[in-house]
Amino acid sequence: MNTLRLMILCCIMSLNACSKESDDKSPSAKNPDWERGRAVYVANCIACHNNDPSKDGPIGPALKGSPKELVQFRVLRTEYPPGYTPKRNTKIMPTFPFLKDEIPYLATYLGNGSTHQR
Ligand code: HEC
Repeated sequence: MNTLRLMILCCIMSLNACSKESDDKSPSAKNPDWERGRAVYVANCIACHNNDPSKDGPIGPALKGSPKELVQFRVLRTEYPPGYTPKRNTKIMPTFPFLKDEIPYLATYLGNGSTHQR
């Protein structure tokens, strides 16, 4: 009887967790630029960065909120925008010159999660 209650409680809790997540994502998930950025990110970046850019990955730091300038500098070169203090001072990340045209989409995905269209 107690076990049953616990199970129901667990169910409700996991349902809640799910719906919260989709609420978070739905406004941006409808934006095709954001979708494209996410696809590029998942294909190229999550070996080191977290699947969820707001969290640190196994090797690379969290990226949520990264401005376009930062993404552009770091993905195309091993440099940072003038005056920017890198989250890590390692030099592990390679460059991705072939992603030149994808930078705006990556930046949309990483930079401003749910509010955007700039
Ligand atoms: C081989 C692992 C690896 C891959 C793949 C990788 N990164 Fe990184 N990234 C890192 C590491 C490690 C750092 C910390 C600085 C360093 O060591 O170069 C970093 C730092 C960054 C930073 C700077 C964060 C800050 O605020 O200081 C950005 C932006 C970034 N990565 C974006 C990307 C994007 C976008 C991709 C995919 C196109 C990507 N990274 C793929 C490992 C990786």
